Amino acid sequence: MKKVLVATEKPFAKIAADNIKAIFDKAGYTCIFLEKYTDHQQFVDAAKDVDAVIIRSDKANQAVIENAEQLKIIVRAGAGYDNVDLAAATAKNIVVMNTPGQNSNAVAELAFGMMVYQARNQFNGSSGTELKDKTIGIHAYGNVGRNVARIAKGFGMTVKAFDPFVDAEAIRKDGVEVVDSVEALYSSCDYLSLHIPANDKTKKSINYALLSQMPANATLVNTARKEVIDEDDLKKILAERKGFSYVSDIAPDNAAELKESFALQCFFTPKKMGAQTAEANINAGIAAAEQIIAFLEKGDTTFKVN
Ligand code: 3PG
Repeated sequence: MKKVLVATEKPFAKIAADNIKAIFDKAGYTCIFLEKYTDHQQFVDAAKDVDAVIIRSDKANQAVIENAEQLKIIVRAGAGYDNVDLAAATAKNIVVMNTPGQNSNAVAELAFGMMVYQARNQFNGSSGTELKDKTIGIHAYGNVGRNVARIAKGFGMTVKAFDPFVDAEAIRKDGVEVVDSVEALYSSCDYLSLHIPANDKTKKSINYALLSQMPANATLVNTARKEVIDEDDLKKILAERKGFSYVSDIAPDNAAELKESFALQCFFTPKKMGAQTAEANINAGIAAAEQIIAFLEKGDTTFKVN
């Protein structure tokens, strides 16, 4: 009997976990859950004898992969797979997949929740500003970026995007202005929503040179990854510009320091919660379960990323 481990330090909504289990029950698989674990070794141990693993932001690192004796596939139920050691997986012929698009509306909605919160001075009762008639720049026009564009139009915002990997015509069809450089995007937008992945090219790429081109009262919105921000440069900008704001679903390493010095200029969710909705959990969880079965039964490698 094939065995699947769902390793989620931050668990799926119960309804999503129930759906995942039902799919594996029907396929005749054993499905075990390791939730809210406190020590990474628990994940390493639990993965030892399983055929497949479903994770969220859980670290499928070398220790997990090397210790896993039967592992054939890892599915990251979500978009970003920077938490998976792709080289280690590939070396052991383990397929890695993500579930693109399945949680993107949830992430996009949270971006607007944080924007409104910040525009209204963190709901402190003082007079704030509106999103209507402001310009939002979308840095990387993937699944989340597209949802941000859709919602931004509902708010009455002008929407611009930069993404050299997406066909400009396809972006324009969404009623979004395409700009041809990051500088052009940052210098012309009141809000900047980040949707780039964290990799060797993007880490610390959101730096002083770029942020200082933004309008004085701009807000940077990060529902992507903290690693893409140069945190020293962010601190510098917050100190120099009292109108500049940073709202993020992934607290920076210097969060406590930033909160202490720039309380009204920044906001961080206590735990990454962009994808923390029942709907996103159900969509991503079911997709992950179905992708595992399709791969193990039919060799289907759609959504393979390694
Ligand atoms: C993703 O990459 O899909 C999002 O960052 C969500 O991550 P999470 O599943 O850990 O909430």
